[in-house]
Amino acid sequence: MEFNIALVPGDGIGPEIVGSTVKVLEKTASKFGHTFNFTTYLAGGCAIDEYGEPLPKVTVDGCLASDSVLLGAVGGPKWDHLSGNSRPEKALLGLRKALGLYTNLRPAALQPALASACVLRPDIAEKGFDLMIVRELTGGIYFGERGRNESGNAAFDTEAYSVMEIERVARRAFEIARKRRKHLTSIDKANVLETSRLWRETVHRLGQTEFPDVLLDDMYVDNAAMQIIRAPSFFDVIVTSNMFGDILSDEASQVTGSIGLLASASLGDSSRGMYEPIHGSAPDIAGKDLANPIATILSAAMMLRYSFNLSEEADFIEQTVSKVLQDGWRTADIKEPGAESWLSGSQMTEKILSEME
Ligand code: IPM
Ligand code: MG
Repeated sequence: MEFNIALVPGDGIGPEIVGSTVKVLEKTASKFGHTFNFTTYLAGGCAIDEYGEPLPKVTVDGCLASDSVLLGAVGGPKWDHLSGNSRPEKALLGLRKALGLYTNLRPAALQPALASACVLRPDIAEKGFDLMIVRELTGGIYFGERGRNESGNAAFDTEAYSVMEIERVARRAFEIARKRRKHLTSIDKANVLETSRLWRETVHRLGQTEFPDVLLDDMYVDNAAMQIIRAPSFFDVIVTSNMFGDILSDEASQVTGSIGLLASASLGDSSRGMYEPIHGSAPDIAGKDLANPIATILSAAMMLRYSFNLSEEADFIEQTVSKVLQDGWRTADIKEPGAESWLSGSQMTEKILSEME
């Protein structure tokens, strides 16, 4: 089969990790007899430098015309002085909106081979965990009305959700829970926020009518922040609003101790998705060949699975990465405490490619 993939490497380590991932995708394509065509577009800081704006129209159009988008990361200190809509982050928010990607999947699992990297107490880590955060991605306070008063000494941001917006992301979350351990936890702040009360009502109505086989419970976001550390094995699938999901997914990924391994998928109603690692652009290590490409490689595996329906190929990439980790190969971010040598980003890429032979 043939697919057109838009590459948006972005800033910092983005180009390195996307470059590694293209090699892995090309190898996969040749093994399984597919053709992947790649076109590269600028977004984020590099687009500000080139076009004077973080998300040029040519990038949006190119992504809309593609079968899926693979993104590295955007942002860096060079553009930190910019404000509001001129910031590199605007590219991410704008792409999600333009592509209609209202569901964001962020898996966070403890890799058995990397249990020693987990920051949790051993008696908690021992139980293992494997949770999937489903974050609403194109609504809520990140997209609501915002502003300042005339004198500039007060500001506001608005959290707003409609039943339609809640239902469509919750349906995705229920469907995912159904294919996993059939347990969905909806996270909100319904003791304070009206949007959360609507969220809770809507998720429950959907559960009763369409997913009676999935166990549904609710949790306040502040409690959830504690439970992710205290008892992560409680969770299977989490569904939550844009801002809560942003915060909790960073927490959950850090708890695994291996943020350099975590992938994500952003999906909408069509098969076109956007796939990116959970970590950021890491400007401090950019250009030093230190960045771990695995999170981006695993994001590409998610692309094959969710957008192209190539699950055998996705399994192949995931199993190859697991094997390389089981064999003890590490990049700097996941090395054992006290280890004296580790692989560079390009060496890790070569290891994975040769394991694919
Ligand atoms: C993320 C990032 C973005 C977000 C920022 C950079 C706008 O933190 O993907 O989680 O908040 O969505
Ligand atoms: Mg975030």
